[in-house]
Amino acid sequence: MRYFDHNATSPIAPEVLEVLTRVLAEVFGNPSSIHTPGQQARKEVEAARAAVARLLGCGPKEVVFTSGGTEADNLAVLGAPEGHVITTAIEHPAVLEAARRRGATVVRVDGQGRVDPDDIREALRPDTALISVMHANNETGVLQPVEEIAAVAREAGVLFHSDGVQAAGRIAVDVKALGADLYSISGHKFHAPKGVGALYVRDGVKLVSRQVGGRHERERRAGTENVPGIAAMGAAAQLPRAETAPLRDRLEELALERIPDVVIHGRGAPRVPNTSNMAFPGIEAEALVIALDLAGFAVSTGAACSSGATRPSHVLEAMGVPPALSKASVRISLGRGNTMADVEALVEALEKAVARLRKLSPAYA
Ligand SMILES: Cc1ncc(COP(=O)(O)O)c(C=O)c1O
Repeated sequence: MRYFDHNATSPIAPEVLEVLTRVLAEVFGNPSSIHTPGQQARKEVEAARAAVARLLGCGPKEVVFTSGGTEADNLAVLGAPEGHVITTAIEHPAVLEAARRRGATVVRVDGQGRVDPDDIREALRPDTALISVMHANNETGVLQPVEEIAAVAREAGVLFHSDGVQAAGRIAVDVKALGADLYSISGHKFHAPKGVGALYVRDGVKLVSRQVGGRHERERRAGTENVPGIAAMGAAAQLPRAETAPLRDRLEELALERIPDVVIHGRGAPRVPNTSNMAFPGIEAEALVIALDLAGFAVSTGAACSSGATRPSHVLEAMGVPPALSKASVRISLGRGNTMADVEALVEALEKAVARLRKLSPAYA
């Protein structure tokens, strides 16, 4: 099976697996214990914290380990000081649903999936406490003008959170240069296991912890640390980034050349180099995903499927993509291990599957 769904999750890298199994097998102590086994575990956690801090360009004390991207997003959005929240229509539900609980103002995006910093400025209120805008979108890969939005936040004296789950490990990230106060990442998107993530919390930013109990993580996140997962994420933070831009460019070039009427969402905007969201008018994305799966290629639908009913993707909807085109969209997300030969084979399979499905489609004349 050739895997093209790295935005859903990525396989564990061998270097990471080695660390994970070593720590699972040999380092069983509780990092809060003062004896030697405890201190061995503490050492693993702090080494990983330093590695994650280097990945993000921050200090180790500014890294809070969490159970993943969702918890990091929830901690940022629900743990920020009281007041009005501004977010965008294309956020991951981990931000959007949390922000909705706080009665957030949800800002629009343009046809390329980009937020206009002026729209954020206009949404400011005297009681605004937090602006949350993602760095890279999980469905389209479109990058947001986070530096400019951070400047708007700074001017207004408001905290700025960015969901960097799809950016970390894909592009260079420097939270200080971005101007973020809070920044979420998730290990399993960059070759660590599922169930571990982190939130960057700028020194001086006060959060109300969401998970209460012991005084772990400088009282920002209670609970005994997931030592093997954290150590593995520390190893993953040191992996070289995969060179996916040439593969993504070739994929799009070949698809546009060989398959009629392909639409690539967000192609006119800056994007992370691993993601391509393509619509093939006249087909149903689920049918295409299944056809490709049978042919040995794993890709994903652009439309999220919840409780058995497929709804058009909220991201594409916010970009003004008509529902029929949205339902004809698939996401191809590249990563470590994908080769040019894989990409060429994928386009061949796509060409065949799309032609076959279109023949059966009354919607495509
Ligand atoms: C942009 C974004 N934010 C947050 C998450 C949630 O991360 P996790 O799966 O670690 O909870 C995801 C995962 O799909 C994501 O793509």
